[in-house]
Amino acid sequence: MAGTVTFDRSNEIFRIQGAKPLRGRVRVDGSKNAALPILAASLAVDGTVQLRQIPDLTDIDTMCQLLSQLGAHICRDTAAGTVEIRNSAQESMEAPYDLVSRMRASVCVLGPLLSRFGRARVSLPGGCNIGHRPIDLHLRGLAALGADIRIERGYIIAESRILKGCDLVLSGPEGSTVTGTCNVLCAAATAVGRTVIRAAACEPEVADLAAFLNAAGADIQGAGTSTIEVTGVRHLNAVAHSVIPDRIEAATLAIAAAITSGDVEIINAPTESLQSIRTALDQIGVCQSVINSDVEVTWRVSAEAAGELRPVELIALPYPGIPTDAQAQLMALLSLAGGTSVITDRVFPDRFMHAAELVRMGADIRVTAGTAIIRGVDRLTGATVMASDLRASAALVLAAMAAEGTSEIRRVYHIDRGYAGFERKLNQLGACIQRLSGPNPD
Ligand code: UD1
Repeated sequence: MAGTVTFDRSNEIFRIQGAKPLRGRVRVDGSKNAALPILAASLAVDGTVQLRQIPDLTDIDTMCQLLSQLGAHICRDTAAGTVEIRNSAQESMEAPYDLVSRMRASVCVLGPLLSRFGRARVSLPGGCNIGHRPIDLHLRGLAALGADIRIERGYIIAESRILKGCDLVLSGPEGSTVTGTCNVLCAAATAVGRTVIRAAACEPEVADLAAFLNAAGADIQGAGTSTIEVTGVRHLNAVAHSVIPDRIEAATLAIAAAITSGDVEIINAPTESLQSIRTALDQIGVCQSVINSDVEVTWRVSAEAAGELRPVELIALPYPGIPTDAQAQLMALLSLAGGTSVITDRVFPDRFMHAAELVRMGADIRVTAGTAIIRGVDRLTGATVMASDLRASAALVLAAMAAEGTSEIRRVYHIDRGYAGFERKLNQLGACIQRLSGPNPD
C-alpha cells in the first residue's frame, strides 16, 4: 500500500440544517462487518485473494494497514471497491496496540495467523465506548482447538504446533460472539479433523465468512445457524469473493427516511436479513415495500403519509433479533413517536451513550437499569452534540436531519469508520449536511 496519505479528521464536525424530508434512491455498500473478518481471514490463504464490494471506510483502511504490516501485499481500488491480497513470507505475526486499540476488529487476525503460522501476538483491545467487551470466548475457543494461550504485557500470545478439531461451545453471559465465531471458524478451517462450534453466532456476516472460506477450499456446513460443522483441510487456496451488502447501513437509511417523513428507495438492500427491523418499522407505522428485480432488491421506505408514529417496546438481541447496531438509530426515531417506547439492549446492556445527546436535542429519554424509556416529543430542536461511537453518531445525524434548526455534531470521524460517503448519500436525498473543521477535540 505504497503512498497512503492520512489526514487528521479528529476535529471535523457536521453542520446539519434539519427538517428536510429525504426523497429519492440510494445504494447500499458492502458490509463492513463482513469485510473485516474476511480481510483478516485472507492471511490464512495460500494464493491470491480478490475481494469485491469492499466499502470505502477508515476501518477497512486500518485492517489493510494491519495486513500489510503482517507482510501481505495489498492492492486496493477504493473507487471500484476491490482489494487484492497476496501473502508473502510473513515479516511479523504481531497486531500492535495502536491498530487494535483503534479498531477492535483487528483481533480477527488471531485465528487466521494461528491457522497459517501456528503463532500470533495480538494486543488486547482494552476499553470501549459501548460497554465492557471481553474476548474470553475467542480465547476459550482457540484453546479448545489446542492453542496454548497466555497474556503477557497486554498482548495475547497464541501458539500451537497443531490445531485439532473438537466439539466446543462459544456462548457467554450475553449469548454468542460474532468476531469470536469468526476467529474460531478460521482456525478450525485448517485444523486436523472435525470441529463442531455450538452456540455459534448466526449473523449473516459469519455466513459470508464461511462462504469465503468454502470458496477457498474449506469444508464448513451450517454457518448462519447456531451449530457449525467444520472438516479441516490442509490449505486454503486462491479465491475471489463479493462481500454481502451492509444490513446496518440499509437499516440506518430506512430509519433516516422514516424520521424525516421522507420516501426513499434503498437499492441493494439485504431485506431477508432485515426482517426484525422491517417488523419494528411496521409496528411503528412506517410504510414499506420490497421490489425484487432480476438484478437486485429495492426496499422502499416511506413515512410521508404515515401520520403519527406509534411507540413500541424493542429488545436488541443477537441475529435474527433487532441488531444492537441499529438500536441508537431506532431510539432517535422513537423519540418522535406518539407515546412511550421502551428499548433494552441484551447484547451491550450499557450501550446508551447517545441517549443523553438526544436529550440535548429535546428528546425525553430516561435510562435506568439497562433500559431506556422514551417519551415521544412533538419535535426535536437543533443543538451541538458529541458522537461517542459509530452507531451513536448515525443516530445523532438522523435526529439532526429531523430537528428544527441547525445542529452541530462533533467527532464525526466515528461515522467514517462505518458509513461510506454518508453525508454525500444523504445530501443526494435532500439532506443539508456540511462537513467542516471544528474546534480541536479535547
Ligand atoms: C460484532 C460487530 C459489532 C456488533 C456486535 C454485536 C464486527 C466487526 N463488529 O462485534 O458491530 O455490535 O458484533 O452484534 O462484526 N462477549 C463476551 N466474551 C467474548 C466476546 C463477546 O462476553 O469473548 C460479549 C460482548 O461483551 C457482548 C456480546 O458478547 O456483550 C456480543 O459481542 P460480540 O458478538 O463478540 O461483538 P463483536 O464481535 O466484538
